[in-house]
Amino acid sequence: MVLMQLSNIGKRVLALTIFSQARRQLSDMSSNWALFTNAKQIELYAQFRPRYTEEVFKTIIDYCGETSSDFQLAVDVGCGSGQSTEPLAKHFRRVLGLDVSAMQIAKAPTNIPNCTFKVCKAEDLSSVKTGTADLVTVAQAFHWMDEKKFFAEVDRILKPGGSLIIYGYSTCSLAPKELDDYFQKFYHSVLPEYWTGGRKAVEDNYTCFSIPYEGWKRNDEMSIEKDWSIDEFVGYLGSWSAVNEYNQKNPSGNILEKVQHEFKNINQSANRENNRQTTDLRVTWPVFMLMGHKPK
Ligand SMILES: C[S@@+](CC[C@H](N)C(=O)[O-])C[C@H]1O[C@@H](n2cnc3c(N)ncnc32)[C@H](O)[C@@H]1O
Repeated sequence: MVLMQLSNIGKRVLALTIFSQARRQLSDMSSNWALFTNAKQIELYAQFRPRYTEEVFKTIIDYCGETSSDFQLAVDVGCGSGQSTEPLAKHFRRVLGLDVSAMQIAKAPTNIPNCTFKVCKAEDLSSVKTGTADLVTVAQAFHWMDEKKFFAEVDRILKPGGSLIIYGYSTCSLAPKELDDYFQKFYHSVLPEYWTGGRKAVEDNYTCFSIPYEGWKRNDEMSIEKDWSIDEFVGYLGSWSAVNEYNQKNPSGNILEKVQHEFKNINQSANRENNRQTTDLRVTWPVFMLMGHKPK
């Protein structure tokens, strides 16, 4: 109401203030690293996080090929347990997965000969030599990082003509619709206060970010789809930091038991009403990607 009464100039000032507050929060994210040290959450993360599609990696490789035919070293920063790192191994001679969480790195694969995983902060990539990387990727992790320090490090390690690709996926939607309605209500009314860091940036498909290289571009054409049982989807929700945070602050019971129960009830009545027998969910995540080449 109050917002509607503001003049256009007032609205712009308000938007700029909110934007710079969000930026300040994003630049002091060190305390959020603790979010990735919960053993159960990390276990669920490795098990249920959606895998990126072949199309995602083809887009990355094609983009690198625009300015370079060198595929010697790819560095995946904020690699978690390696979902975004492993598929690069068939395209690059050497792949380095870096993550600030030792527990995530401990879950990364150890059987890929040209892939090495190390504990390392995005803001200090001193374990990578200057001018040696053909590609730096960050998947679903940039909103945790100190943008300025990270970009300085990326510019140092990339070869001229090398590429920086920042990507991820935003909040999923579900089919059938009855389950999506319940999920969206849970997401928008129960969880908001339990997300820390840059969740808003993820929900906005990283439109608040840009790549510091001229001519950089976005790709918002891709998605990830999965057919999951209700139990699998609930397992995925268990890998969310906000769910973990909710359970810690409300220790009387696990919120996911309630969600699972509700999902099953809603699905049963929707099946009856629509004369169908669906037990699976189709889960769709929109993928966003920001891509830039370091000038030659
Ligand atoms: C949501 S996970 C993404 C993992 C993987 N890249 C993927 O796409 O599934 C975010 C990861 O970023 C890591 N991370 C957060 N802040 C970081 C930082 N400043 N430097 C390095 N890694 C960071 C976390 O430890 C976590 O493993």
